[in-house]
Amino acid sequence: MSLIVWMLLALATAGHFALALWLFNRLHARAWRYRLRQLLERILVLATFGIAAAYLFAVWKLSGQTSAPLSLTPGSSPVEILGYAYVYVCLAVVLLSLPIWAWPKLRYRSPTDLVALQTRVVDMREAGDITISGAFPQFCAKLPGNEIWQMHVQRKHFRLLRLPSELRGLRIVHLTDMHLTGKLGREFYEQVVTLTNELEPDLIVVTGDIVEREKCLPWVEPLFGRLRAKHGKFFILGNHDFLLPQPQQLRNELQRAGFFDLAGTWTQLEINGARLLLAGNELPWHGPAPQVPPVDEAFRILLAHTPDLFTWAQQESFDLMLAGHNHGGQICLPLIGALVSPSNYGVRYAAGMFRQGPTLMHVSRGIAGEHLLRWNCPPELTLLILE
Ligand SMILES: [Fe+2]
Repeated sequence: MSLIVWMLLALATAGHFALALWLFNRLHARAWRYRLRQLLERILVLATFGIAAAYLFAVWKLSGQTSAPLSLTPGSSPVEILGYAYVYVCLAVVLLSLPIWAWPKLRYRSPTDLVALQTRVVDMREAGDITISGAFPQFCAKLPGNEIWQMHVQRKHFRLLRLPSELRGLRIVHLTDMHLTGKLGREFYEQVVTLTNELEPDLIVVTGDIVEREKCLPWVEPLFGRLRAKHGKFFILGNHDFLLPQPQQLRNELQRAGFFDLAGTWTQLEINGARLLLAGNELPWHGPAPQVPPVDEAFRILLAHTPDLFTWAQQESFDLMLAGHNHGGQICLPLIGALVSPSNYGVRYAAGMFRQGPTLMHVSRGIAGEHLLRWNCPPELTLLILE
């Protein structure tokens, strides 16, 4: 086969995997029943690799037989016609999706709201050994380059136009995606609590995926009860929390630990005489959306698990939206970045800061994950300082 044919086949292969990733990310963003979604995802993964293997086999058989395997020849069987048609579909996908994927990346500029950023990298094993339960998690943790222990404690200073002068200097710790599964020992989370308290926050907000195994519920009150914040602690739940047989038990534990449940509701705080509105939206997994009051002089902050609610946040004129869910992609390839991100927007909001209209959105890479694997995507514990 000619070089050009090999290049077209390589492009078609890229299109095939791009199509599969597109489907996987959107499927994972759905609020369908967990078992159904898991089944569909497994079928998709099997089909993706199965089709790729079948193609490799067909190309190996064809190589040397013809110089133009991409052209349909008279007498081709229906399977061959379908196969060739799929190659052309994949070529179209890669040619169309490349600019759609690359354009936002090339256009992206960190919002000018971010005026300073300091990062301190903390090796979570410094304070002592951390147990890992299970053979596969232990195997993952030992993989070269795995960054699960390299906690990036970040201080992000935001200059926000509508912030009342009385709230200048407000310190908010944004915690998300802690994923208490029992795979990572409790010592890891004790260390997260210690690091959070060292940041001396005025507010602590947790944006979901806190506990996904019932056996970890007894950890919640002692752990989260140790967190200290001058003006309060607030939470919403994420999709993994709804895998618990009774998510209300988690809400109860967090409330016992001094947290305020913002699920589908809002509250106002008065700090130094200025009003701060805090709201929580757990959609699409748990509704309804909060009925927030019309805009007034109160500064408005939204807690959401998924960044997919960014448009809703803009419609409701939130000044700041805090989210997680996408974990930064967990595995980021050099130059390419994240590939897997359970969002209707694919990897666009995998992590970072985004300004659109009245709203600045902060998407954290999160503290941990269901899978103990991170490459070029270290965990993140963030202190937001509003100026
Ligand atoms: Fe998560």
